[in-house]
Amino acid sequence: MRTEWWQSGVIYQIYPRSFQDSNGDGIGDLDGITSRLSYFEELGIDAIWISPIFPSPMKDFGYDVSNYDDIDPIFGSMKDFDRLIKEAHARDIKVILDFVPNHSSDQHPWFQESKSSRENPKRDWYIWRDPKSDGSPPNNWISDFGGPAWTFDPTTNQYYSHAFLKEQPDLNWRNSHVRLEMYDSMRKWFNRGVDGFRLDVLWHVIKAQDFRDNPVNPDYKPHMGEMHKVLQLNSTDQPEAIEVAREMRALADRYDGRVLIGEIYLPFEKLVKYYGPKQDGVHMPFNFTLIDAEWKADTIFDLIARYEASLPPGAWPNWVLGNHDRPRIASRVGLAQARVAATLLLTLRGTPTMYYGDELGMEDGVIPLERVVDPREILDPGKGLGRDPVRTPMPWTPDGGFTEGEPWLPQHTDRNVEDEMQFDSSMLNMYKLLLALRRAHPALSLGSIALESAESNVLIYRREHGDEILRVALNFSDRDQTIAIPNADRMIFSTLLSAPETSGETVTLRANEAIIIEAD
Ligand code: GLC
Repeated sequence: MRTEWWQSGVIYQIYPRSFQDSNGDGIGDLDGITSRLSYFEELGIDAIWISPIFPSPMKDFGYDVSNYDDIDPIFGSMKDFDRLIKEAHARDIKVILDFVPNHSSDQHPWFQESKSSRENPKRDWYIWRDPKSDGSPPNNWISDFGGPAWTFDPTTNQYYSHAFLKEQPDLNWRNSHVRLEMYDSMRKWFNRGVDGFRLDVLWHVIKAQDFRDNPVNPDYKPHMGEMHKVLQLNSTDQPEAIEVAREMRALADRYDGRVLIGEIYLPFEKLVKYYGPKQDGVHMPFNFTLIDAEWKADTIFDLIARYEASLPPGAWPNWVLGNHDRPRIASRVGLAQARVAATLLLTLRGTPTMYYGDELGMEDGVIPLERVVDPREILDPGKGLGRDPVRTPMPWTPDGGFTEGEPWLPQHTDRNVEDEMQFDSSMLNMYKLLLALRRAHPALSLGSIALESAESNVLIYRREHGDEILRVALNFSDRDQTIAIPNADRMIFSTLLSAPETSGETVTLRANEAIIIEAD
């Protein structure tokens, strides 16, 4: 089988509002990203995925799209976009866009038409239902941001569905015109040179045809967020969603070397269905399990084993440690352990997706109450669900270096690129080393994986490709752990950037240390 770039490569997610501002308005933009292309080269990643940059009223910061075929002026122009693609490609960096199929903005002309009358030709492009006889919403579905997933529109006396904000009406993917329009937009971006799409909430795109209630969640606790009051069995993950994935794949396959990645939060057995019955669905349904996993060697051992076992033949795995919706890894496991997490991400079998700033050990930012802007926090407050803390501006220099103006979210600079470039053992330099190793050793990028043990909170696995065998040992604890390991003296990497103590076939891993050893 031919190896595709997205199999051996590493993807880096950019939240464009927060990466680099070029015009002093306090919000990152495309020219900003272009100006930082040499950073990616130096870091050693292969592709950038940029969260949505399409015209948007920004109620959900770009995940509410009002035109799928253009660029929001806050991020720049189509010319800026073309330049970014051209310059990224000149440096052999791929560009992945974030496509939002499930819903548009309520300001999208399609929705404006759809809501204007029941007879409008675009009425059926969205999901409209009559109220129950007492006037209440058609069923008990809850928006992921809290509150009912239905909003009543007095103009036509019906409710429309929205899995997220009321300003993000769900498109009706059972309508063939909707599909054709959306595929047409994807085609236009492919033609402009885009190397792939991350597909927003792909498992949401089709709802059960009879709109029956979702079952009540017996395990609901208020701290989880209101959406968890019900189990989303009927509002998500319908078999027809996989058909949509297959249609998108058929489109992508008409081009060379394009990738489709599905944002899907589901357990393994359901998740892997999105690879398609014949490997003809998305290339990679995102595997988010490391984000929620209990951070212990035996738990992670079990999780890797279950994931690998669930993959259909030929399906390519992938791993994610964080994104623009979830707490940052350094805040979840601590700065010292975040180095172990980085080693895990970059040495597991499958494509890693990094989140901007994690390579610095960036932590969740502190957001004073008056600066909270995320609707998730505003609508379901005080439960730690808000996403502003993980979207703070990229710290380039001790003074910020992100903008000349007032940043849209508070900037923290205690860890920043300039400082971290300067000392060898920084998180940034450790990431560079790991990325370079991954590039130099096909065993790490393409090799098979064999799990070996998880005793004393140390996870050990082997990666193998051709004649090359590497062994990875990760100490999940904050104590020294002495373990038996063959060829302990043939270490090629340590998160602490100096060799641990070895004696014969044993090595004493220091607290929060991970190592890579050559094996035979
Ligand atoms: C996805 C995005 C998230 C957004 C939501 C609605 O989960 O990652 O940021 O709010 O979809 O589009």
